[in-house]
This record gives sequence, C-alpha cells and structure tokens, in this order.
Amino acid sequence: MGDSGSIWLPDAMSTFAGEVDALFWFVFWTSTVLFVAVIGVKIYFMIRYRRTDDTYVPEPVHESKRLEAAWIVLPTILTLIVFTWGFQVFLRISSAPPDSYDITVRAQQWSWEFEYAEGVTSFSELYVPVGRPIKLMMSSEDVLHSFFIPAFRVKMDIIPNRYTSVWFEVTEPGEYQIYCTEYCGTEHSGMLAQVIAVSEVDFAAWLVSQNQDLPPVELGERLFEQCAICHSTNGERLVGPSLDARFGTMRALADGSTVLFDEDYIRESIVNPAAKVAEGFQPIMPAGYSSMSAKELDGLVAYLKSLE
Ligand code: CUA
Repeated sequence: MGDSGSIWLPDAMSTFAGEVDALFWFVFWTSTVLFVAVIGVKIYFMIRYRRTDDTYVPEPVHESKRLEAAWIVLPTILTLIVFTWGFQVFLRISSAPPDSYDITVRAQQWSWEFEYAEGVTSFSELYVPVGRPIKLMMSSEDVLHSFFIPAFRVKMDIIPNRYTSVWFEVTEPGEYQIYCTEYCGTEHSGMLAQVIAVSEVDFAAWLVSQNQDLPPVELGERLFEQCAICHSTNGERLVGPSLDARFGTMRALADGSTVLFDEDYIRESIVNPAAKVAEGFQPIMPAGYSSMSAKELDGLVAYLKSLE
C-alpha cells in the first residue's frame, strides 16, 4: 500500500485520485515555471542595471503595451483553467454516484465506528468492496474530527450535530491508512484506522460472518478495539489504566477511597466515566460511550471479567 508513491503523494488508489493529482501537478508546475521565470528575470535585472555611477541618470522608460497585455492575459487564462478544471473535479468528488453503498461513520475521542447498511458495525477497520462506489455519512459524537485517506485523496471535516459526506471507489484490494486530521485532544495522533478493501465476494462473506450473534466475551473483545487506544490489557500504562487482571480486586480511586472492580463498577465507569476515577489518572474519558446498548455493555463486562 502506498509505499511506491512519490515523495509528494502516495499511490493513487481510488477512481478519482488520478484527476486530483493531475490538477495538483498542473498547478505545481505552472507555479514552478512562473516562479523561476520571475526570479530569474529579477536577478538578471539586478545585475544588468546595477547603479555603478553616482552621477548617471537613466533615460525615462516607456511601457510596452504588448508586454503589459501579456502579463494580464496569460495569468487570467491560467487562473480560468485552474478554476474550471478544479470545479469539475470538485463536482465529481462531492457528488456520490446514485448506486453507492452507504456506510455510517461515527467519530469520537479517540476512535472510529463504522456501521454498514446490513446493521453490522466495526471499529478501527473499515471494510469496503473494491470496484463499487462507497458513500460515507459521517458525524461526531463530541468534538471536531477530520476524516483523511491519503491514498484515495479523500478528506472531510467531521462535525458534531451535523452530517458530512465523502465517497470513493477503491481500485485495488489492500489496506489503506485512515487518519484523524483535526486536532481533537490527547490521543488525536493515535486516532487511526485502516481501510480493508476486498473483493465483492469476500465483502459479502465478511458481512455474513459479522452478522452472527457472538458470545458476550467475543462481542466484548471486538467492542474493546475502540477502548484500546487508552486502555491496555497487558499492564501497560496508557492514557487510562490498564484493565488486565482487575476483576474482583479492590482499586484505589483518585479521591483516596477504594472500590471493588466488579460488574457494577465496570458498567458505571463506561456510562459515567467521571463518577469514580482511578488513582493517578485524570477524568478525561469522554462520556460518549454511554450510548452503548445493554447488550454491548454486558459484552464488555464479560470480556473484562475474562482477562487474567
Ligand atoms: Cu479525532 Cu483528531
């Protein structure tokens, strides 16, 4: 994926990425040629017409109508080319084809949730079929985020209380990096996900496999992917406490008291994270996870209980 792109741009892996690149290179090279020409002429004039004699008074210079016409007409033509070309590409990338496959994207500090038309959800991995237009309807549960897939030349802000949308069609199977590209708090730089682009057949099979009812522990394990940016399960200290081997033990809290790490405490800490903050940590966990269903909460409780 993307490794053989140029120093400027990663490999173009969506249907319109090549058009975006062509416009980029046109602007880049015309700007480069104009820059070199203007600076070159300027340096030449500085040397050629340098003042060498204090008493010398030059002849008055009269303007050249042809030269003035040229530097008005040429830049006007160039900007009109960039405008019409850019507007065409803009229209193409901002209007999804009517037969697009819809996926809902929810961003929150600091995870991605993807919900597919069949009711399946995934975290940190966006599965898409190759060769079919994909339309993302995106919203934020908390603050500003921004959705960015460099390989597809797709980037769009994600805003609370409003939907924004992008679309793309992937040209080749593979894994492509998704970034959050709007500073959104402590773990902004870790707010990553992957696009997993697979064939239509593999995508259909993946949907079927996801639709099966999972046992609570496995459901909890999958849901935990969105917690893993802040909570490890191997004792490592991240933004939040590690959650390994805690079930049934007494835990110290920030206010000096202790609490039994049981089902009720896990549930309360997800739904109302500021209620009982672990000792040595700040109450920075977002409240957005309170929208989890009872089944999902049960799954997470079962999973954390199962950790040794
Ligand atoms: Cu979300 Cu940065």
